[in-house]
Amino acid sequence: MSALKDYTEIVTDLDNYMIELLGNSQYPKQLVDPIKYIFIGKGKRIRAILLVEVCALFELRYKEIRNIALALECIHTYSLIHDDLPAMDDDDYRRGQLTLHKKYDEATAILVGDALISLAFELLTKPSENIDHECALLLVNKLAKCSGMGGMVGGQILDLKINNSTPSIDLVNNMQQMKTGALFHFACLVGPIISGNDADQKIFEQFAVSFGSIFQISDDLIDIQSTLSEAGKNVNKDKEKNKYTLIEFLGVDGAKAQIAQHLEDIRILLRDYGIKSQNIINLCQELVDRRS
Ligand code: IPE
Ligand code: IPE
Ligand code: MG
Ligand code: MG
Ligand code: MG
Repeated sequence: MSALKDYTEIVTDLDNYMIELLGNSQYPKQLVDPIKYIFIGKGKRIRAILLVEVCALFELRYKEIRNIALALECIHTYSLIHDDLPAMDDDDYRRGQLTLHKKYDEATAILVGDALISLAFELLTKPSENIDHECALLLVNKLAKCSGMGGMVGGQILDLKINNSTPSIDLVNNMQQMKTGALFHFACLVGPIISGNDADQKIFEQFAVSFGSIFQISDDLIDIQSTLSEAGKNVNKDKEKNKYTLIEFLGVDGAKAQIAQHLEDIRILLRDYGIKSQNIINLCQELVDRRS
């Protein structure tokens, strides 16, 4: 397997861009400081990286799509801040430090989340030389759908509310595709939407399902097998909170076999892109044994 590409430049650029945006003198320090606390230098930025790599396959350069990549990371960070609130998963650690509501307070955590949603859509609608208005509208629509009731937020409510019943494996799969897969779906579709090819869109829709599954199953394995210092968040929480994951249905080995199957599906799906898809395959491979 080839080594994973070094993404430091992109990660640093996204941080610097966020710092620049937060320099707006109208923004209250009470929001800017906590956003810097939870965002700058934190998180793997896997969604932005995936978005950039899929766009690269369609010859779109990073600078052309960095507003979109940052918008997606804003939505994702908001989802984590709210996911950790006492009314939801009630977590004390995130990204290797106290959760935002622990460091500040719950009202701040709620409003920082709200601010990040609005910032995401502001970024997505910034004028861009290479993305015309019609395409920008498609992207806004896509992010709204992926982050909303039919996507991440919908999945989050199912995650919270199915733990009193005994769900089927299909229901758990569906919930995971919504809460986690939907933002990966957006990451994977930006390139095909901008390049305007329906066949590529279909392929990357399928790819996103497999990528989302690998990501959430590996997240659920982290909860069982990793540690607070490795993962940067509390572990053994799913059992404590009666969360249904695929591991209940498949066991650890079965869950790992499921990941291997998704990897195989991805290899077949992307075969026609040849060597151009190698960085994407490497990213998928990297998820398999992750501990954070
Ligand atoms: C964690 O996402 C939440 C899930 C969707 C499983 P990440 O593991 O990508 O979190 P960060 O951004 O690196 O902190
Ligand atoms: C979170 O899933 C998915 C989101 C939409 C934020 P988890 O609740 O499993 O994520 P962690 O384990 O807290 O990061
Ligand atoms: Mg959760
Ligand atoms: Mg959680
Ligand atoms: Mg988890």
